[in-house]
Amino acid sequence: MRHVSRTLIILFLAVIALSVAACTAQEGPVGPEGSAGPQGPPGAQGTQGERGPAGAPGADGLSFMPAEFIGSEACAECHQDIYDVFARSGHPWKLNKVVDGNPPDYPFSNVPRPPDGYTWDDIAYVIGGYNWKARFIDHEGFIITGDEDGTTQYNLRNDEIDLGNDWVAYHAGEEKPYDCGSCHTTGYVAEGNQDGLPGLVGTWALDGIQCEECHGPGSNHASYPLSFQPVMDRDSEACGDCHVRGGSEEVNASDGFIQHHEQYEELFQSKHITIDCVVCHDPHTGVVQLRQDGVQTTRTQCENCHFDQASNAGNETHESVAIDCIDCHMPRVTKSAVGDVERFTGDLRTHLMAIDPQQIGQFSEDGTVALSQLSLDFACRGCHNPDGRGRIKTDEELITAAAGYHDPVMSPVVEDQEVSEDGS
Ligand code: HEC
Ligand code: HEC
Ligand code: HEC
Ligand code: HEC
Ligand code: HEC
Ligand code: HEC
Ligand code: HEC
Ligand code: HEC
Repeated sequence: MRHVSRTLIILFLAVIALSVAACTAQEGPVGPEGSAGPQGPPGAQGTQGERGPAGAPGADGLSFMPAEFIGSEACAECHQDIYDVFARSGHPWKLNKVVDGNPPDYPFSNVPRPPDGYTWDDIAYVIGGYNWKARFIDHEGFIITGDEDGTTQYNLRNDEIDLGNDWVAYHAGEEKPYDCGSCHTTGYVAEGNQDGLPGLVGTWALDGIQCEECHGPGSNHASYPLSFQPVMDRDSEACGDCHVRGGSEEVNASDGFIQHHEQYEELFQSKHITIDCVVCHDPHTGVVQLRQDGVQTTRTQCENCHFDQASNAGNETHESVAIDCIDCHMPRVTKSAVGDVERFTGDLRTHLMAIDPQQIGQFSEDGTVALSQLSLDFACRGCHNPDGRGRIKTDEELITAAAGYHDPVMSPVVEDQEVSEDGS
């Protein structure tokens, strides 16, 4: 009994202990907040406060003159690096004043003498002479054309195509005013006559294409660089103001070549029209000085965007003779000064770039317009001609080799190699 009652007591105490423990267990976590109640009605509008006193007058603003042209040397003060490469590019050398009978001192070229019958003292300006050709302006402002058989244009020596260093006719026997200033000068205005010379049509601020032709007159920027941003136009159209000839839908041609300054029209013919000139070109260096220095001539290479074609060079023989993309895709279809129809070479690379592997001829029937795609005559026969690096090839041979030029080559099937001539 005692055992039973002891067990009962222990049980009773255990139940009490358990229930006390249950009652003192920790409280659960706070439940989530209930959703907000509906918005109350708006209160009545308050009365308007009194108006504060007027502030002190602001300081007088600086008044600026409209910006003026100050010349590229003035920009060099703060942009020396850009000025240094720019000075070796073609743009500033487009129109050169002859001072005290001294001919211009070009970075890479040399115009040996003025046209027959003239001394440097008779020349007011030299047009160009930087890379392709030079023409000359007399003290009346007219371009020198000479008499009926006069040769007054000097073609510079071009070692790459082994032509030049000769004198040719330019509008012989005609009177030719200099009306070229819109593309050759800075700050051109069509009215008036520069230097008061009757032959110089229009007036301009600076000779040649200087910094401010692209960036706008810079006097205010030079005084307050951080307050006045120069013009910055990266669009192809900005370059296309001058690298153009007539309408942009047609590439004009004559005498077996595309006429020069049509880079904008050429780009327009292909899908590259979506790429700005300055994606490929540094506008301050141009191309010629980089070619002279033997370094890469563009900031972006074909291979950077077209890696598939770059890794499928098309033809082992070509690979072994180190052909560049531009040898086929940017042949010299264009002529500024010199060219040789027999060798399919002018003196400027075209920007057409797309090759039609079935097309042999390059021009419309009357020869005045270039077709939109490159022909095999120029893409291939610039080398595959009697004097070229490659052997003469028939149209059929070229077409066969050109079609699918960059298609991946299948690795040869083993069975084919085992089949011998007698078929065993
Ligand atoms: C006194 C010094 C000074 C002179 C002179 C000067 N610049 Fe500048 N330029 C600057 C500074 C500083 C900047 C950078 C301003 C900035 O980052 O906003 C600049 C920036 C520029 C830019 C780039 C603007 C941009 O949007 O990024 C161009 C283009 C430029 N200058 C052209 C010129 C030309 C052209 C001339 C001559 C007409 C010239 N500068 C003369 C100091 C100068
Ligand atoms: C043919 C037109 C052209 C001429 C001439 C030119 N620029 Fe520019 N410049 C541009 C364009 C377009 C850009 C912006 C595009 C780029 O560089 O990619 C630029 C960019 C600049 C910049 C800012 C970016 C950079 O490259 O550092 C400065 C500064 C500048 N130019 C100064 C000059 C000066 C100074 C000169 C003359 C010595 C000059 N430019 C001549 C077209 C031109
Ligand atoms: C629509 C703009 C434009 C007009 C107008 C223009 N040119 Fe040009 N000229 C250019 C361009 C751009 C180049 C360089 C690119 C090229 O040849 O494709 C050039 C190149 C030249 C060159 C070769 C420069 C060198 O250093 O080798 C000479 C010379 C020349 N032009 C003379 C003239 C004469 C003379 C006239 C007027 C009867 C004229 N140009 C009218 C845009 C023009
Ligand atoms: C105001 C007219 C004009 C504008 C704008 C212009 N160019 Fe030119 N460009 C010329 C002329 C003219 C020449 C020939 C210069 C010479 O040979 O003396 C030339 C020559 C060139 C050359 C070959 C010479 C060299 O130094 O390699 C290149 C490349 C070139 N321009 C690129 C451009 C680019 C890119 C732009 C736009 C950012 C541009 N140009 C804007 C007129 C212009
Ligand atoms: C910044 C990039 C870029 C660079 C650099 C570039 N390309 Fe292209 N290229 C393109 C694009 C984008 C297309 C259009 C592709 C498409 O629609 O499939 C194209 C198209 C082409 C085509 C076909 C053209 C057509 O109209 O159908 C050819 C050929 C070509 N590129 C050759 C070249 C060569 C040669 C170079 C070097 C001189 C070059 N590309 C440099 C971007 C580039
Ligand atoms: C897809 C890249 C690309 C674009 C976009 C491009 N160019 Fe070029 N350009 C080149 C290459 C590559 C060369 C040849 C460089 C060489 O001969 O080594 C060249 C050469 C030139 C030359 C010199 C030609 C010669 O044979 O001396 C001029 C001028 C020129 N470009 C102007 C322009 C103008 C203006 C634009 C825009 C309307 C433009 N380029 C757009 C890649 C390009
Ligand atoms: C920069 C110069 C150059 C250009 C551009 C060029 N070739 Fe060639 N090609 C050569 C040379 C060099 C050889 C080796 C000598 C030969 O067989 O004529 C060659 C060889 C060939 C061969 C013979 C290959 C072999 O394995 O026997 C064919 C076919 C050919 N080229 C087709 C073309 C076609 C098609 C084009 C234009 C789409 C072209 N070439 C553009 C320089 C060039
Ligand atoms: C020997 C001449 C030759 C050389 C060198 C050459 N190509 Fe081509 N390329 C062609 C021909 C031909 C075609 C047209 C093929 C077709 O339409 O069937 C072509 C077509 C192209 C196309 C258009 C798309 C395609 O695959 O048909 C691009 C992009 C291109 N090439 C880029 C390049 C680049 C980048 C290089 C330098 C790494 C280069 N090519 C070197 C001859 C050449």
